[in-house]
Amino acid sequence: MAFTIAIDGPAAAGKGTIGRAVAAHFGFAHLDTGLLYRATGRRMVQGLDAVEAAQSLQASDLEADDLRTPEVGQAASRVAAIPEVRAALVDFQRAFARRSGGAVLDGRDIGTVICPDAEVKLYVTAGDDERARRRHKELCEKGHEVTVEEVLDDLRTRDARDSARATAPLKPADDAILLDTSAMSIEAAVQAAIDLVTKGLATAGQTDHPQ
Ligand code: CDP
Ligand code: CDP
Repeated sequence: MAFTIAIDGPAAAGKGTIGRAVAAHFGFAHLDTGLLYRATGRRMVQGLDAVEAAQSLQASDLEADDLRTPEVGQAASRVAAIPEVRAALVDFQRAFARRSGGAVLDGRDIGTVICPDAEVKLYVTAGDDERARRRHKELCEKGHEVTVEEVLDDLRTRDARDSARATAPLKPADDAILLDTSAMSIEAAVQAAIDLVTKGLATAGQTDHPQ
């Protein structure tokens, strides 16, 4: 059976860290869908039309060194509000989700739009200041010169834009389990997520029909 785990939440909440660890624990594949929007945004900044950029994304675009910068994050959140850009990226994400052996996808609209039938949906959050502190530390460790105030501003601007857009806005699916990691270490957050997914998969295994 092709189990799908959907992880959504605001910027720098720990979705990727948790997604990677959950995937490793269960032997599932992991897709950080933010990279698709970041790679599209990066190509738009380079002068390409955003929709054409999304339609012609290559695997190598997802490996560019500067995808994690706040500038590319802002461009990602701007292109992510364009319905044609989102439409161009749907098939790839759904095919990934259906791969045999199980898949974990993290993003903003996985539980609501991309994989509404996911066996387990987590909505990972943490307070703004804590998320900014974490992302600031990460960027500084990678050698970026940025203040915590600038990071906080970037996260807030993107969260507001991502929540307000008409197509696939950031919001928890009705059946998502909320996981607030504000006061959790990475290890504690990962363990909490693994416990929730373990329970969710046990329930899904009892109620789903084999595919
Ligand atoms: O994928 P997303 O943007 O939601 O977040 P992330 O890149 O997984 O995590 C953002 C930063 O917070 C990373 O540097 C993580 O190591 C860190 N983190 C943390 O300090 N505590 C957690 N409970 C989860 C993540
Ligand atoms: O790592 P962080 O949470 O800061 O951002 P990300 O997950 O890499 O996503 C970058 C931007 O892409 C977000 O601010 C959203 O605008 C967009 N995005 C989206 O619209 N839908 C997704 N499934 C994933 C990302």
